[in-house]
Order: sequence, then C-alpha cells, then structure tokens
Amino acid sequence: MNTERTELPITIRPAERSELDLYEAHFSPNNRARYHQRRFAVQEREAGVYLIAWYEDEPVGHFLLRWDGPADDTSGRYPPRTPYLEAGATKPLYQRRGVGTRIIQEAERLARERGYDQIGLAVGSADNPLAKKLYERMGYQEWGKGVFEVSWDYESEDGRKGVESEICTYMLKALESF
Ligand SMILES: CC(C)(COP(=O)(O)OP(=O)(O)OC[C@H]1O[C@@H](n2cnc3c(N)ncnc32)[C@H](O)[C@@H]1OP(=O)(O)O)[C@@H](O)C(=O)NCCC(=O)NCCS
Repeated sequence: MNTERTELPITIRPAERSELDLYEAHFSPNNRARYHQRRFAVQEREAGVYLIAWYEDEPVGHFLLRWDGPADDTSGRYPPRTPYLEAGATKPLYQRRGVGTRIIQEAERLARERGYDQIGLAVGSADNPLAKKLYERMGYQEWGKGVFEVSWDYESEDGRKGVESEICTYMLKALESF
C-alpha cells in the first residue's frame, strides 16, 4: 500500500454564491439539508466567513468561521469576543494532507486581523479523538468547563428528516498579535 502523504497544493477563499450547488454536490451528495447554503448565509450577513479549500477546480474542504461564537451555545458559557470555528470537513480522499490545518490557519489569520485575541471550536469529547489530536497539535486546549450537547438536523436524499447530536467540549487557542 502506498502510504506516502504529501501536502496537497490548495488555495483557500471565502465561499461564493455561484458555487453553492457545487459544494452541495461535492461535500453533501446524500443530504438535502442545504448545509452549505446555510453557512453561506452566515457569511452574507457578515456574521462570519465560510472558507473553502480548492485543489485545482475541485472543492476539497471547508470550515465556517463565526465572529460571534456559536449560534446555539447550549453550555451558555462560551467566552465573549471569541470567534468560533465549526462545520469543518475535508473530503475523505484528501484527508491527512494538510487541508484542515491550512483552513484553520487561514481562519486564525482572519480573526487576528480583526483584532481578536482568541478563537475556539467544539469537538466530540469522546468520539472524535482524531480531530481533537489535530486541534491539540495546533495549540487548542480544552476549556475545562465540562461537556454539552450539540445537535443538527439532516434530510436524506429520500426526504427522511432527523436530528443528530454529539457530546462536545470547547477548545480554545490564544492568538498571538502580529
Ligand atoms: C478533522 C478533519 C477536518 C481534518 O482535516 P484534514 O484535512 O485531514 O487535516 P490535516 O491533514 O491538516 O491534519 C490531519 C491530522 O488530523 C488527524 N486526523 C484527521 N483524520 C485522521 C484520520 N482519518 N486518521 C488519523 N488521523 C487523522 C491527525 O492528527 C492528522 O495528523 P497526521 O496525518 O500527521 O497523523 C478531517 O479529518 C475530517 O473531515 N474529518 C471528518 C469530519 C470531522 O470530524 N470534522 C471535525 C469536527 S470537530
């Protein structure tokens, strides 16, 4: 088996309205919940930036950066003035080639540029050790105030609707000033 993993040459830029159908087709082909449209709406009302990573003409990864923290903070204790990263994913074929790292770095750069001094995100506290490892490597630390439930809706191709949820913890990172 070829286990060589080289960094994927990507570019990262904010989402564009004209590309929404492409994101749905590439990232969420079996889900009709229009996640990408909803994330783009956050960017449209200037509440955040939906960052898309491109490899040639293919969208391969994304993260939504919200300026004002999570939209629904079920813990009630997410710190103020702390931008928040959510909805991160890299297409399976391109995982472990630096895409997630570089989107997060770009989000941190944008947050710093706006004068914020920390940034946060939520991760599955027990069931996503791989993502957690990545965030730890990038300097994120558990906030130390316990776990809470995050839920989201889905609609499958055949029209079935439902809600999924995950027990999460916040992780925070101080942003160095320029
Ligand atoms: C988490 C995720 C966004 C990371 O994106 P990525 O482009 O693979 O990230 P990078 O290549 O920059 O970093 C990879 C690191 O993440 C961790 N990791 C991510 N996926 C992994 C996997 N399938 N196996 C092992 N480690 C993995 C490792 O620490 C890895 O480092 P290594 O390759 O040196 O061991 C991606 O794995 C993903 O889409 N996962 C499914 C959705 C998800 O869990 N999103 C995050 C919700 S909080």
